[in-house]
Amino acid sequence: MFKLIIRHVFLRFSPELAHRLAVTYMKSLARNSVLFALYSAFRKRKRHSLERELFGLRFPNPLGLAAGFDNNGDCYNEMLDLGFGFVEIGSITPRPQAGNPKPRVFALPKDKAMINRTGINNKGVEYAINQLRTRPPKGIVAANIAMNATSKFDEVVKDYETAFSLIYDFVDIIVLNLSWPNVPGLQGLGDIPYISDLIDPIMELRQCYDINKPVLIKISPDYEHDQLGSILDYCMMAGIDGIVAANVTESREGLTASADTLKKIGPGEVSGAPLYAKSLSLVKYINEYTGGRLPVIGVGGIMTPEQALEMLEAGASLIEINTGLAYEGPGLIKKILKKLDRQ
Ligand SMILES: Cc1cc2nc3c(=O)[nH]c(=O)nc-3n(C[C@H](O)[C@H](O)[C@H](O)COP(=O)(O)O)c2cc1C
Repeated sequence: MFKLIIRHVFLRFSPELAHRLAVTYMKSLARNSVLFALYSAFRKRKRHSLERELFGLRFPNPLGLAAGFDNNGDCYNEMLDLGFGFVEIGSITPRPQAGNPKPRVFALPKDKAMINRTGINNKGVEYAINQLRTRPPKGIVAANIAMNATSKFDEVVKDYETAFSLIYDFVDIIVLNLSWPNVPGLQGLGDIPYISDLIDPIMELRQCYDINKPVLIKISPDYEHDQLGSILDYCMMAGIDGIVAANVTESREGLTASADTLKKIGPGEVSGAPLYAKSLSLVKYINEYTGGRLPVIGVGGIMTPEQALEMLEAGASLIEINTGLAYEGPGLIKKILKKLDRQ
């Protein structure tokens, strides 16, 4: 069924509709099928060798679902059942927002890539909390939070604080999304003055809770290394627990799609295969620069089991996929876990 959605809707028609159908399908399949429950229970039993201890949490395996698939917390349990070791929901903003006008997600099949300018369409933090409350997570769930696009500059920190404090009790990890280039206002948030303005109050807020949950930041892959070095220095000083590296890229380098096709698509950022070299080198750089003091979740362009392994060998403590799932279907999860299991 997933393959049908990919072949006929994702590749030919609308990647965004395919994504919606896939989320709906996952929800209905898991709720109605006893076989699915047995199948996922069987898979889970076999995975002990892949376990990882990180952030004081025990991950059943190092492969996670990246943000932007389960934007609203509609199917985290079903994705965990499929074999993911953790799921990052979001990005979630304090208030619901429609995102940019459609079409806003485009498939580039020859490049195994996607271009998107979604603008973080999501149903808001209250909706996500309601999902988490009524369907308690069966495994590790991270919430990726961001500001609302309509918020003014001086409301940015408040937005993050609101989303953070509302969702804190319901998830295991919080990821601050500092890297969303197609949302007006989020560009430049990764610059040092903004990073400290944002990280300091969030880390202070965390001290109000009895349980110290891990706080990570998600960065753009488009930083120069010296810029990134300053960010990493600040993160280590401020007590940030880890880095999600990385988000989509503004660069269109390496795409074979014609200039005309890209012009027709218009603005947007690239995910998938062309991003892999960049994210791999970023993971290596972060690991070397911090001497392993800041654990990295490596994400960007992982489309094969070999790349998943290479990303872990480059120093990523955990990895995530998003576009790979769209092109290869859930079979990719199994293939990656099998490859990692053999090492
Ligand atoms: C359609 C789409 C929507 C996304 N939405 C978000 C988002 O809301 N927040 C975020 O932090 N990353 C988002 N991402 C970025 C992914 O989480 C991931 O970092 C990026 O796509 C690189 O991984 P990939 O090549 O495996 O897709 C999105 C990606 C895609 C393709």
